[in-house]
Amino acid sequence: MREPIIAGNWKMNKTNPEARELAKSIAQGIEVSSSSPEVVLCPPFTALEAVMGEISGSEVKLGAQDAFWDIQGAYTGEISPIMLLTIGCEYVILGHSERRSYFSEDDQVVNRKVKAAIQAGLSPILCVGESLEEREKGQTEAVVNKQLRGALNGLSLEELKSLVIAYEPVWAIGTGRTATPQQAGEVHSFIRDLLSRLYDFEVSQRIRVIYGGSVKPDNARDIFNQPQIDGGLVGGASLETESFLGIVNLYPSRGD
Ligand code: 13P
Repeated sequence: MREPIIAGNWKMNKTNPEARELAKSIAQGIEVSSSSPEVVLCPPFTALEAVMGEISGSEVKLGAQDAFWDIQGAYTGEISPIMLLTIGCEYVILGHSERRSYFSEDDQVVNRKVKAAIQAGLSPILCVGESLEEREKGQTEAVVNKQLRGALNGLSLEELKSLVIAYEPVWAIGTGRTATPQQAGEVHSFIRDLLSRLYDFEVSQRIRVIYGGSVKPDNARDIFNQPQIDGGLVGGASLETESFLGIVNLYPSRGD
């Protein structure tokens, strides 16, 4: 059985006092049970330590929103995966569509970052997903295929162990427009088939594949009920305690 995971991607939001308050109330409000998902908060770099201070000792884990492809060196403005690891991060989001579109990250860059993160001991949350235009042209599977093959190029089965894949259709991010559970489920199945072809069946069943794109408390249940979907990467709704907990705490009873 794959353990479900819900990660909050705070993007470029929250000053440190705001981040502390949000992290604290989330950590206090999580209902822990045997079927609870793993919960990860991904604040901006500047708030990582502040958030760590609030969640340590709780079930909540820490993640970053990006990391560089090298461990150290003359890369002004960049953050190394080792730096993230040493302040308590376990996860790092890589290849988010906002990084791909605003910062020109291509599959090769994402691949280098995934390798560096894994080498450092972080679990990447690797984002893939098509634009609206690509979906309308029927290119969804071709795009996801190219992104996944590119990002995983040269990675061994062993290195894949800690990977989480997030399917985030670009047209569903921040738009209030969610993929239907069926649309998302189809792409998730495609991703598993591809993993099975690239690696083996066992790994395709073991890797967690989560959905991102306008996940809210009122649509999360239907999304999480899809057997291929192992949780969510949540943007806007992760910025408020009530909406984030509304997603996290419904998980145990999602089949009701
Ligand atoms: P929204 O939940 O705001 O659509 O953002 C999704 C996302 O990009 C998470 O990484």
